[in-house]
Amino acid sequence: MLKKFFPERIFKSKAHDGGQNILWRIKIMFEKHLDVTRGSPPASLAPIKQLAEAAGPAIMADAGKLAGYYGGALGHPGLREVFAKREGVSVDNVFISPGGMLAFRWTLEAALRRKNYDTYQTSGVFDPLAKVVIGVPVVTYDRAIKTIAQINRFYERLNVPNKIDVVCIPEGPDGPDHRVLQGVAHRLDYYYVIPTFSNPLGAVWSSEARHKVLTLAKQFSFVIIEDSPYEQLWYGNEPPPRLFNLADKNPEVVISMNSLTKIINLAGVRSCYSIAPAWVMEFLLNSKNSPAQLFISQPVLASTILEPLVQDGLIESHSEFLRKRVGPIVREIAQLFPKYLGDFIQLHAEPQGGYFFWGQVVAPEWSSDKMIELAAKNANLKLQAGRGFYADSEAEGRHRTFRIAAPPLENEEDVRSFVQRLRYVFTNEVIEIV
Ligand SMILES: Cc1ncc(COP(=O)(O)O)c(C=O)c1O
Repeated sequence: MLKKFFPERIFKSKAHDGGQNILWRIKIMFEKHLDVTRGSPPASLAPIKQLAEAAGPAIMADAGKLAGYYGGALGHPGLREVFAKREGVSVDNVFISPGGMLAFRWTLEAALRRKNYDTYQTSGVFDPLAKVVIGVPVVTYDRAIKTIAQINRFYERLNVPNKIDVVCIPEGPDGPDHRVLQGVAHRLDYYYVIPTFSNPLGAVWSSEARHKVLTLAKQFSFVIIEDSPYEQLWYGNEPPPRLFNLADKNPEVVISMNSLTKIINLAGVRSCYSIAPAWVMEFLLNSKNSPAQLFISQPVLASTILEPLVQDGLIESHSEFLRKRVGPIVREIAQLFPKYLGDFIQLHAEPQGGYFFWGQVVAPEWSSDKMIELAAKNANLKLQAGRGFYADSEAEGRHRTFRIAAPPLENEEDVRSFVQRLRYVFTNEVIEIV
């Protein structure tokens, strides 16, 4: 078993020079963070068959429209109706986008436009330096951070620095650090959050944390942007309701983004529906940068196929299927991990759903990204050194981040072997864990 994964020791560790126990020489030089994912979910966990079967009849039913019209800026009208009905909101507040991050980008662009308009209204002067201030978790989805940075880079090229200012808010296992949030709330225009099984923290905000954040949002008039693609994937207790629902489905208080990429494992269809206030909808329809102006129309073929499927309850049935298929495995891992991890990896939160675990490893002084990558190769683990999950670049500088795709973990032996390999990768320790 050991030989198979660890053909040789690859580090010359100082700890072995004097024959001392390796643990004596481990120093905390820097902390290494670790995201344990299941990698890309296999096609067997996506509703591919349903999609294929629905495609022909759906295309035929929509044929006249597909051939003759552009879908418009807000996405396929029929699918918007279906989502509006499902959520119990007005269709005038629902738009579809090719993926969640375009919804985020468009919302931010709408926010910039709104800010310019507001400052013009109050001062009578157009202020090109008017800024939007957005709170984001210190550790959050890397592409959301990138989206903000890209918008800022665009304006920097026009000699307008940082149109969007970022305020970082730390998060614990139950929700944001309330004191920090309270201290900065007066500065915020928006707050981007992933309260349920966040990427990458895997944590769930408690009910209490959700209510406290909503109270601050109302008191200081900042708008919450809730990104919630994982909320259906609970494997233990059902998580508390979305912030959007707790805010009485008022999109002026919480903008709700729901990407089907994770909800039903269909990344390839690029479909996300959002529930947004009138000023976002107005931007999408009428601004010079609106999707309608930029690419005439949104693509509607995927929506044509999804419309009857979502109407027939695909989201409910497939998320239940995922909970049943993946749930027992993740629950077992969640119980076994602490047993084998000991204090080697400190998990940020107990895994309860979604696709991520996030933990902290203290690695020895002599380790480097290169060594760790090499050791991962030796141990047959898919590992990628990666940056980008820190919205706070100073915090990022103090840490190293690795993404690891967990191999299929079906039973206790798999978990034991996985943890053993992890130990080897980060500490070069080859210890038979029993
Ligand atoms: C929190 C979060 N939001 C949005 C997305 C992106 O989804 P999409 O594929 O719809 O762009 C992801 C994908 O990993 C995610 O983790």
